[in-house]
Amino acid sequence: MPEDQSTPCPVAAIILAAGKSTRMRSRLPKPLHPLCGLPMTAHVIRACQQAGVERVVVVVGHEAETVRAGLGETVAYAYQEQPRGTGDAVKAAQPLLNDWPGAILVLAGDVPLLPADTLRHLLQHHRQTRADVTLLTAFLEDPTGYGRIVRDPQTGQVVRIVEERDASAQERAIREWNPSIYVFRAGALWSALAEVRPLNAQGEYYLTDTVSVLVRRGATVEAVPATDARDVLGVNNRVELAQAAALLRQRLLNVLMLSGVTVVDPATTYVDVDVMVGQDTVIEPHTFLLRGTRIGEDCVIGPFTRIEGSTIGNGVRVLASQVVDSVIADGARVGPYAHLRPGTHLEQEVKIGNFVEVKNAHMGARAQASHLSYIGDAEVGMKTNIGAGTITCNYDGFRKFRTRIGSNAFIGSHTTLIAPVVVGDGAVVAAGTTIAEDVPEDALAIARTAMTIKEGGAIRYRARRAPQSETV
Ligand code: UD1
Ligand code: CA
Repeated sequence: MPEDQSTPCPVAAIILAAGKSTRMRSRLPKPLHPLCGLPMTAHVIRACQQAGVERVVVVVGHEAETVRAGLGETVAYAYQEQPRGTGDAVKAAQPLLNDWPGAILVLAGDVPLLPADTLRHLLQHHRQTRADVTLLTAFLEDPTGYGRIVRDPQTGQVVRIVEERDASAQERAIREWNPSIYVFRAGALWSALAEVRPLNAQGEYYLTDTVSVLVRRGATVEAVPATDARDVLGVNNRVELAQAAALLRQRLLNVLMLSGVTVVDPATTYVDVDVMVGQDTVIEPHTFLLRGTRIGEDCVIGPFTRIEGSTIGNGVRVLASQVVDSVIADGARVGPYAHLRPGTHLEQEVKIGNFVEVKNAHMGARAQASHLSYIGDAEVGMKTNIGAGTITCNYDGFRKFRTRIGSNAFIGSHTTLIAPVVVGDGAVVAAGTTIAEDVPEDALAIARTAMTIKEGGAIRYRARRAPQSETV
C-alpha cells in the first residue's frame, strides 16, 4: 500500500503501566522486568519511537517513581492514582494530550515483542481508512484470559470487545482476541472515554468499552489482524516472561546470523538488544553478549564467555572468559579463564592467558600476561612480558595506586609490584622480586634472599622426619 501523504497526522502514544501486576509476584514492578537487556516497557517505548510516534506518555501508578527512574526521561509521565481500569489509566494521560491534533496510539506496557513494523502497519491502515479507531487484533486457538473481539455475524464489522470475565460461553469461543493495541482519532478517544462506565465484573473503567461507544455512534471502527500472534503476546507472569525473552533472543540472533555472523548454537547464545557483531565472527556455544557490546569482524568468541558493555576489534579471540566494560583491539587473545574488569584496555595483539585478572589497566600493543596474574590500576608498555604470578599491589587498605611499567620490559614470574611504582622501558625484573621502589630504564632489579645448598641435606632430613618403621 502506498503511504498516504495527504493527511499529515502526528501520532502520540499512551502506554499503560500503572497496574499492580500481581501475577508477576515480584517486588520489581512489571514494567521494569528485563528482557534482552531492556526493561519490558522500554521495548514498547522503542517500538513506538521507531514507528515515528512523536510524543510518548507512560501512565504510571503502582511504584510510580521506581518505574519512572527505570524507564528514563525520553518520555513523559502521567500518574493514575488508583488502578481503576485501563480506561481510567488512559484518562490520566488526557491532561498531557488534550490538544493533540492527530492520532493517539494506546497500548499496554507489557507487550515487549511488539515490532515497530506492526505499529507502522496499524498506523498506515488507520490513516488510509480515516477511521475513528483502528484495533490491532490477533488469533489464537485458545485465547483464554484475553478480551475477545465480537463482530457482527452479517457484516463482519467489530461490534465490541468483551472481557473474558464478562463474556458468554459463545463469546468465549471466539478466537480473535484483543492485544490491547489501538489507534484513535484523538477527539474520538476523549469523547468515548467520557461515556465509559464501570459496569462490569471487575467494577473497572474498561478502555475496551470505548469501542462499543464508538460503534453505537456510527463511528468508523477498523480492525487489523496482526501477522503473527506471537508479536503481541502480553506478559503477565514469569513463565510468559521467559517465553517472551526466548522469542526476542531468537529474533536478535536471526538478525545477526543473516548479517553474516556464525552462531554455532543459538539455543545457548544470549544477546542483548543493540549488540553489534561483525561479519564472519563466530560465536561459540554458551556465550553471553550483553549491554552495548560491539564486536568486530573475524573474531572467535566463546565458548563459555560473557562480555558486557565492551568494544572488541577485529580478529580477536576470547575463550571462556568474562569481559566487562573493556576495550580490546585487533588481534588480541584472551583466555581461557581470564577476567577483564571495567577500565581494561588491551591494544593490538595483546595476549591475556589463563587466570589473569585485569582491571582499570592499559596494556600496549603485543604486551602479554599469559598466566596467573593480577594487573590492576596499571599501565603496561608495548611488548612487555608479565611473568606468571605477577601481582600489582594497588591497594594499601585505604587507597588505590597505579603501577607504570614501560615498554619492552620483562617482569619475571612471581613479581610483586607495590604501587605507586614505575618500572622503566627495557627494564628486567628477576623472578620472585618485590618491587617497592622505581626501577630505571634498562636496569635489572632483583630482590631475593640468598639461597643455601646443603649437600646430602635431604637424606638427613628424611632420616629425621620419617617414622621409624619406614627407615629400614
Ligand atoms: C487488557 C484488556 C484485554 C486484553 C488484554 C491484553 C481491558 C479492560 N482489557 O486486559 O481486553 O485482551 O489487556 O493483554 O483493557 N493498567 C493500568 N491501570 C489500570 C489497569 C491496568 O495502567 O488501572 C495497565 C497495566 O499496567 C497493563 C495494562 O494496563 O500494562 C493492561 O492491564 P491488565 O490488567 O494486564 O489488563 P488485562 O486484564 O490483561
Ligand atoms: Ca495484560
